[in-house]
Amino acid sequence: MEIKNLTAKYSDEIIRNRREFHRIPESSGREFKTSALIRQKLLAMGLTPQSMAGTGLVAEIAGARAGKTVALRSDMDALPLAEKTGAAYCSQHEGFMHACGHDAHIAMLLGAARMLLDLRQEIRGGVRLIFQPAEENSAGARAMIAEGVLHHVDTIFGLHVWSGLDAGTISVEAGPRMASADFWYIDIRGKGGHGGMPHDGIDALIAGAALVNSLQTVVSREISPLEPGVLSIGEFRAGALPNIIADSAFLSGTSRAFNPLVREQFPAAIKRIAEHTAAAYRAEIKLRYDFGSPAVENDPACSEIAERAARKVMGEQAPVLMEKTMGGEDFADYQQTVPGVFAFLGIRNGETGAYPQHSPFYTLDESVLPHGAAVAVQYALDFQA
Ligand code: NI
Repeated sequence: MEIKNLTAKYSDEIIRNRREFHRIPESSGREFKTSALIRQKLLAMGLTPQSMAGTGLVAEIAGARAGKTVALRSDMDALPLAEKTGAAYCSQHEGFMHACGHDAHIAMLLGAARMLLDLRQEIRGGVRLIFQPAEENSAGARAMIAEGVLHHVDTIFGLHVWSGLDAGTISVEAGPRMASADFWYIDIRGKGGHGGMPHDGIDALIAGAALVNSLQTVVSREISPLEPGVLSIGEFRAGALPNIIADSAFLSGTSRAFNPLVREQFPAAIKRIAEHTAAAYRAEIKLRYDFGSPAVENDPACSEIAERAARKVMGEQAPVLMEKTMGGEDFADYQQTVPGVFAFLGIRNGETGAYPQHSPFYTLDESVLPHGAAVAVQYALDFQA
């Protein structure tokens, strides 16, 4: 009952904070104003935030009694997108927008901190507030972990506002939730020449075009049809003029899976097919393969605690089932070390929240945010009980 009262108490503040952060979107790893504003708000609560991984922040709320440490995590970066929502509190940083709702995550974690401070007598152990930079480029979680953010942590809870779910619902299912997300880059080297005399050159553009097609067979011919996997080429650059044979070309793409064994199949298969396809056209390639975040996988026991917590603070009907997604999330890096749960909070309410994540029209039903904060608080208390 008390958490419900606190949800109402901090509701306006959470929404106000979300709008404040929405105005100042910043790119991954460069969340300077965002970080300063979070610090200021944590200090005002009487907490002592520590810097980590550049713009990241960590603050500890110690309970009245000894016990387990629960980490609550928010990301804080925005996207290089020009906002088109027309909201009164829209982005003041031209060309940048909180189009993935990380502004809402910050506001919810600050709200959770407020509630936890009021509930300090009930905390057994501690709660670590993690404000992590650079989620969108998968660099932030790893950097925070390398600097020790998970020391003595027993569980971690994270949450994402999700346009695919209706307001008032939340998904906290166990098992694989989001795919591993890796990124790769292929430079193709040919030999430039005149378009009228192609035989004197080596056409990198032709090799690239063949590669775009042949790489599709990694998923269709090499990965078990029973295992989800996806390979997408998002970038192909080649050529300058109609009568010039391109001497180089460039491709970049992403590969995703849930099963780590499938994930490991990709780099070798991409390299082999790219090398041999290019060779068939007398061209050469250089592959750079970057492993991003692994798959988000929710621990069954943590999921159960989160589901009970969601029922308590959002109502019996709140937890819903949601199909896992091939989107990626570096929350998975924390889950490699400590058991945890990543929740998807519904934000769709008619027209509001109808646009997908990363859309320049992205909006959300703000009235759900205090409840998202309350679920995090309830999870922390129930995990320690
Ligand atoms: Ni996001």
